[in-house]
Amino acid sequence: METLVADKLKQAAQVDFLPLQGTDYVEFYVGNAKQAAHFYKTAFGFQSLAYAGPETGMKDKVSYVIRQNKLTFVLTTPLRADNEIADHIYKHGDGVKILALKVEDATNAWEETISRGGKSYLQPLTLKDENGEVILSGIHTYGDTVHLFVERKNYTGAFMPGFRKWESSYNPAETGLLYVDHCVGNVGWNQMDPWVKFYEDVMGFRNILSFDDNDISTEYSALMSKVMSNGNGFVKFPINEPAEGKKKSQVEEYLDFYDGEGVQHVAIATNDIIETVTELQKRGIEFLKIPNSYYETVLDRVGKIDEDLQPLQELGILIDKDEEGYLLQIFSKPLEDRPTLFFEIIQRKGAKSFGKGNFKALFEALEREQDLRGNL
Ligand code: FE2
Repeated sequence: METLVADKLKQAAQVDFLPLQGTDYVEFYVGNAKQAAHFYKTAFGFQSLAYAGPETGMKDKVSYVIRQNKLTFVLTTPLRADNEIADHIYKHGDGVKILALKVEDATNAWEETISRGGKSYLQPLTLKDENGEVILSGIHTYGDTVHLFVERKNYTGAFMPGFRKWESSYNPAETGLLYVDHCVGNVGWNQMDPWVKFYEDVMGFRNILSFDDNDISTEYSALMSKVMSNGNGFVKFPINEPAEGKKKSQVEEYLDFYDGEGVQHVAIATNDIIETVTELQKRGIEFLKIPNSYYETVLDRVGKIDEDLQPLQELGILIDKDEEGYLLQIFSKPLEDRPTLFFEIIQRKGAKSFGKGNFKALFEALEREQDLRGNL
């Protein structure tokens, strides 16, 4: 299977008309950005980076930018009703609006994607201040979600023009979060293949792995998933679609509560998952509970690992392997009141896959939560 992944990445690299340098930032539209920033700093160890609002000439919204290593979040809230941000929050609750991708040339990225059928969100726009310039452009993807292309090679300021450096006297310690490993989108019935085609045709991505309902079904819920990767493998977007099961699919529950398609989870890399998750749990982040029985047989499936099993079991960390190595992963409970967006924390030790061997244990855990909400 993994040779296949390598081959497909090679194919994608050959047709890379949209060279991406990685995820630039993830922007959330939230009901209260001040409180959200405090939460992400306190619970996840993000550091204050930049601020925009009325004081910086932004009259209708406020944004806080927070960072931990290469992971940058922007938390944005509207200051009044009757605008696109307020409407987004009313409909979806707090959620991801923008998956921003770092590029060498944002004008070229826009032209290449638009000429291939992308729907424009933002024509190339140059923002300038005394620290240089940032060029932004953007296209729509599933639901109300957007990909912005960010060209910042000629910018030396904290974040981008319109923002000022945010210095805070409250600086909780980091928790070892490094960068976005992948971002998963949930799309509607029969919409996975059209969106796979969008990422192939418009953005030059390739489908590197697929899971169908035989791989991913438990007694009740089922889903299908295809992993899309750009040419250099820096950006990976798995796409999920609900599948028919005995009861309501977890993807369907998401679509109901998000009121449409959107980002289901952001997977964040760490180099020491035991340390990171220990700290996150200490700070109040809740994760899905995995039954003890999972740990009785897991090493038979994955073989020898460097870590002791006991802390993994205590924390509820899952283990999977592929031909290139293994990975450790854990999934948080939803980060909002609606059962929508959650985070995955992942430590890769060679493995390039996504934890297929854990799907059954994981989905049974998810279904227990879904059942408690009366949505199964
Ligand atoms: Fe994931």
